[in-house]
This record gives sequence, C-alpha cells and structure tokens, in this order.
Amino acid sequence: MILKGNINLMNYRHSYHAGNFADVCKHSLLLVLLNKFLEKPAPFCYIETHSGSGLYDLKSIESEKTLEYQQGISKLLNQNLKLPFLEQYVQLIKNYNKNELRFYLGSPLFAAQMLREQDELILNELHPETFAQLKNLLKQDRRIHLHQRDGYEALKALLPPKLKRGLVFIDPAYEMQQKEFSLALEHLLVGLQRWSQATFVLWYPIKHRQMLKSFYQKIKQSNVKKALAIELWILPPDNELSLNGSGLLVINPPWQFDQQATAVLKVLQPLLSQSPQSGFNLIWLKEEH
Ligand SMILES: C[S@@+](CC[C@H](N)C(=O)[O-])C[C@H]1O[C@@H](n2cnc3c(N)ncnc32)[C@H](O)[C@@H]1O
Repeated sequence: MILKGNINLMNYRHSYHAGNFADVCKHSLLLVLLNKFLEKPAPFCYIETHSGSGLYDLKSIESEKTLEYQQGISKLLNQNLKLPFLEQYVQLIKNYNKNELRFYLGSPLFAAQMLREQDELILNELHPETFAQLKNLLKQDRRIHLHQRDGYEALKALLPPKLKRGLVFIDPAYEMQQKEFSLALEHLLVGLQRWSQATFVLWYPIKHRQMLKSFYQKIKQSNVKKALAIELWILPPDNELSLNGSGLLVINPPWQFDQQATAVLKVLQPLLSQSPQSGFNLIWLKEEH
C-alpha cells in the first residue's frame, strides 16, 4: 500500500533536532557523496524528498528547548578535524555564521552551496510553513526547483529527471515509526525502477538494533544490485524509546565511498560518543560480483 502524505499527521519539526549527532553524521556523509559526483564535469541532479526548511536558528524556542545541537555540531567546532570532508562540512556552516554558532544548515543548503552552475536541485517538502521557509531561502537560485508536495509521490512523478547522473536523498521524519521503514523502502524501489543508474540514500533512526533486522532482510531480498548500510550509534542501541544512533542506506554507492565514509566515522564516533558502548558499522547488504 502506498500512502499519500497527510498534512494533518505532520507534527514533526526539524528545528527541535537541527545540528544533533544524527544531522552531523547524515550531512557529513552527504558531503562525501556530493564530492564524489563533483569529481566529474558532467552535470548531475540532486533530488530531495523531505527537504525541511534549509536553515535553522539554534536560538529558536524549539532548539533552546532540546539543546540537541550541543551534543552534535558543537562538538566539532574548534577541533582539529584533520579530514578535508569534515573541514569542508564545518566551513559550509561557518559561511552562515559570524563569530559564534547561531545557524545550522539543512541538507538543501549544504547541497546548494556545493553544486555547480551546470547542476540541478529538485527539492520537495510537504509542510506548508516549512515549505514557505525553504522557498524564501532558495527561490532566487535558478538551479533549484521547489515543490510543495508529498516526497514519496514525487519519486514516482519526477523520476527520471532530464540529467542522467544524480543522487536522491530520502530523509523522512519517521512519524509512522516502524511502518515508515517499509513505506520509505517501497517508494525508494519504485524510484530506482525509474532511474536505475542513480544513487539513492535513505536516512533511518537506530533505537533498538533488532528493529533493523526485517528492514535489512527486505533489502537483501530486493533486486537492488549494490546496497550499503552505514550505522553510527552514540548510546547502546538497545532501547526502543530513545534515538541511540542513525543510519544511511546507500543504494548504488559511488566507487570507494565506503572507504571515505569509514574515514569520516572514525573521526566522528569518538567526538559524538556518549557511551563506552558507542560504535559504527558498514554493512554491505548487497554487493555486485
Ligand atoms: C527530517 S526532516 C528533513 C531534514 C532535512 N532533510 C535536512 O537534513 O536538513 C523531515 C521533513 O519532512 C517533511 N515531511 C513529512 N512528511 C512529508 C512528506 N510526505 N513529503 C514531503 N515532506 C514531508 C517534514 O515537514 C520535515 O520538514
């Protein structure tokens, strides 16, 4: 069953979580992927299904309430990160801040800063207020196409785009909890059928490790050729009630992306860890032989 986005069910606001450990992991790995695409001069298309507002004020009531960014991006600032990808990630954030950290960037703004004149961005966001903020931020940029629509439905409607090369980033709010894993994967596979040469990335929360078993099993049983799961947990992943880690499923990862992702996680994990049982993992769920 394919559910359409229902605005009435959308209570999630990313401003509560902007810049947290999961954002740091997600966005730094996204940068690694975008850099891979930038290695070739041919233009490419970046498509996002669940874009958010693009820029978050860490002094907002929502951010001040959770202070999640203090366990995330704040831990990276003023560190000698010694890794060009992470230095670039911090620099892109510094570009939107003066002396101290006030604003954290959403994925569309990281991508918009990195993409070239010849590249294209297609950004979807369903929530009316969040979409208005995104539009306000990026409407002047001629490379960017903005849609206020259901991101899952967009995978059907907008794929394949005109440009042959590209990356699809699916970053749902998981308001449907466990059901969202199946829903997101189902739509990813529909999108992949339409644009088989693209790289697809799906973010997912890690609460209890057991909860990932059937998700991974479905990927193994699917007809995707290459699938890599990247996990980082900062707390023991054995409690269904808290966000202990996060993952990225990467379908058709670019050549050697796994090695670069490992190098990033080796630096991030000790910085973000909140427990001696923290760790990270790269799992090839499907590999072409
Ligand atoms: C996790 S946030 C996105 C964060 C963003 N990708 C980033 O990394 O900066 C999820 C977003 O999806 C939006 N959303 C929820 N359901 C949606 C749907 N069916 N289609 C499109 N957007 C949706 C929410 O309003 C929220 O802004």
